[in-house]
Amino acid sequence: MKAATSISLSMSRVAHATGQWADVQMTAGARRTPAGCARMDSTAAGWQSCGVDPADPILRWLLHALPTHCTVAGGAIGEPGPSPYPEEEAAIVQAVARRRDEFRAGRIQARQALARLGVAAAAIAKGAAGEPIWPAGFTGSISHTDDCAFAVVASTAAVRAIGLDVEADAPLDGPTRKFVCRPGEAEAVPALTKDDIDPAKRILVAKEAFMKLNYALTGTLVDFLDIHIALGDSEADEQAFRATPFLAAGAAASTGYEGCLGWSSGRIAAVMYVCPAGNL
Ligand SMILES: CC(C)(COP(=O)(O)OP(=O)(O)OC[C@H]1O[C@@H](n2cnc3c(N)ncnc32)[C@H](O)[C@@H]1OP(=O)(O)O)[C@@H](O)C(=O)NCCC(=O)NCCS
Repeated sequence: MKAATSISLSMSRVAHATGQWADVQMTAGARRTPAGCARMDSTAAGWQSCGVDPADPILRWLLHALPTHCTVAGGAIGEPGPSPYPEEEAAIVQAVARRRDEFRAGRIQARQALARLGVAAAAIAKGAAGEPIWPAGFTGSISHTDDCAFAVVASTAAVRAIGLDVEADAPLDGPTRKFVCRPGEAEAVPALTKDDIDPAKRILVAKEAFMKLNYALTGTLVDFLDIHIALGDSEADEQAFRATPFLAAGAAASTGYEGCLGWSSGRIAAVMYVCPAGNL
């Protein structure tokens, strides 16, 4: 059981949706992309050849951060209209319009990512704890911001579980900070060598990615205050983090799981994955 390891930093300049250039920080060591794979091409044509909108830096960052077995998709939420799958519509029958759009957009992106693995379109129902019910043999994670939905998926033969969270990079307000961070936790977070992203927001996205990963692995929900996040303290590893659940007395020691953070153009994301033993 192993999460992303050997995370290191590289900087890449990519265009975001407005056509401006922005620095996007990417984890280089976590990826396992073989030389020559289109997803590593720096040209727009190269990115398009693996089906990803090269204008979205979050998608490009995810492709860098995840193993090649994973596929990603993302795009504007818009007004997607009803899902063709009754079990999906049943999950949002009592939701407000905005929530229905978000849920439907996430499913569209999830099916898009699965299609890139050759998986035929099918319903992705909602589980009892809110988790997506992936087609047999596949796993993944979904996240939304106010205006976009993202999905990452993989075969379970290659990846046991994935946790993704994407948020606007605005600082947390005081009450949310107390809800998310243990006393002193945000204060212990090293400052970034560049950029100015609230340490508590970095902790939030890392914890939410861990919650999803952990649920996929264990079927249990953990509270924010029952997770400890350690962030990298040098420029070389400031995107790396380790999430460790606080353990009940007598429980087996855990070394936690590694993940990585990326940020660009007003958004911050965290992603974690665990591969089956022996499959890195
Ligand atoms: C699950 C959680 C982390 C989602 O994060 P979020 O930032 O609020 O929202 P995001 O848009 O990033 O993610 C939402 C998606 O996460 C996924 N998700 C929800 N619950 C999940 C779970 N238990 N496991 C894995 N993925 C889950 C879903 O796909 C959901 O989108 P959908 O409902 O449209 O399918 C969030 O709901 C949360 O913080 N829950 C509190 C944790 C909790 O309940 N703890 C138990 C207290 S004892």
